Amino acid sequence: MAADGHPLQPDSSVAPLFAPLALGGLALRNRTAVAPMTRVSASADGHATARMADYYRAFAAGGFGLVVSEGIYTDQAHAQGYLFQPGLADHSQREAWRPVVEDVHRHGARMIAQLMHAGALSQGNRFRAGTRGPSAVRPKGRQLAFYRGDGEYPLPQAMTEDEIANAVRGFADAAARAREAGFDGVEIHGANGYLLDQFLAEGVNLRDDGYGGDVRDRLRLTVEVAQAVRAAVGADFVVGVRISQGKVNDFDHKWSGGEDAAAVIFGTLGRLPVDYLHVTEFEAWQPAFGEGPSLAALAKQHAPIPVLANGSLHDPAQAAGMLARGEADAVTLGRGALTHSDWPQRVRTGAVIAPFDRELLSPIADLANADRRQAKRDGGN
Ligand SMILES: Cc1cc2nc3c(=O)[nH]c(=O)nc-3n(C[C@H](O)[C@H](O)[C@H](O)COP(=O)(O)O)c2cc1C
Repeated sequence: MAADGHPLQPDSSVAPLFAPLALGGLALRNRTAVAPMTRVSASADGHATARMADYYRAFAAGGFGLVVSEGIYTDQAHAQGYLFQPGLADHSQREAWRPVVEDVHRHGARMIAQLMHAGALSQGNRFRAGTRGPSAVRPKGRQLAFYRGDGEYPLPQAMTEDEIANAVRGFADAAARAREAGFDGVEIHGANGYLLDQFLAEGVNLRDDGYGGDVRDRLRLTVEVAQAVRAAVGADFVVGVRISQGKVNDFDHKWSGGEDAAAVIFGTLGRLPVDYLHVTEFEAWQPAFGEGPSLAALAKQHAPIPVLANGSLHDPAQAAGMLARGEADAVTLGRGALTHSDWPQRVRTGAVIAPFDRELLSPIADLANADRRQAKRDGGN
């Protein structure tokens, strides 16, 4: 028996999930990770709280090998996306993360800070009025109600080259603070429609200054951020990049150019000084472009670094299948981890995996709402 009382040998079909993995120099006890999830539960001035420490600790105690934090804003200019989002934009925000990370470590998991600049999708920023993006193009869709948004997104101003340089510096400085706070690494949020993904997306990036143009030019900002972050944290600290096709405001978006675009994007990212790629799709195993390989498999094909796959992988057989087929090196769970903070232990023991309860995130996706939902369920409602 393992120290936690579970059999050492899980059912062989899910065994791939429990093999150790190295991300750069970071040893993970298994291949299950918590996906980044914004919970808008920090203090109004962006400090992580004791309740957040409880929330993150539960995933470590439940057996996950890695916890990726919610998206953390990087600067005191235009990075913040949501009110009550935590930051790593100054020393006091850095100090607030320290006990959270220590708790996760105490329970045997590693923790990576996801660094996020919301760009034109910002719907709550206590530092600045107005939003910034690659070009003055109003984002599709409507603001997210479960993060207290309402109505259309504002029309952003196109970033100046100085503003771009400051945003890059913001990522680098926040990464240095993450290291000082005790995090084991940082994940650059290049996915889901936020600033870096806005630069990658041809529909909203109309620039002609070297940050816009073909797919390589549109990736330039992500490349510069990764290089600046690496320079800020040194060689012996994990740096990853998260990437997606879909966006929070344009769920079904696909890269034009299909597999050719994927080859350029993953080939470029794979040559960066980064330790892993985190690839997300609605269902991670589905073909990325109607037919053919999944997006995670394409990342594996074109980048010589570990790939974390995300998207509806709470079914243990699906999750283990991604690893067994070599489409990914680890899996990350969002909703599955919210349903069961001890998902890995449940899988090892063959316990039932319940469906996701959307009420946990409704009407507001914060921890107070989840606590109320839990109390209601405990009370039998
Ligand atoms: C409440 C909530 C908040 C999220 N916040 C973030 C975030 O801050 N950064 C990010 O990259 N993805 C975020 N996501 C997306 C998840 O990381 C993940 O991609 C998504 O939930 C799909 O994975 P799943 O099918 O395992 O839930 C969020 C998802 C949820 C449900």
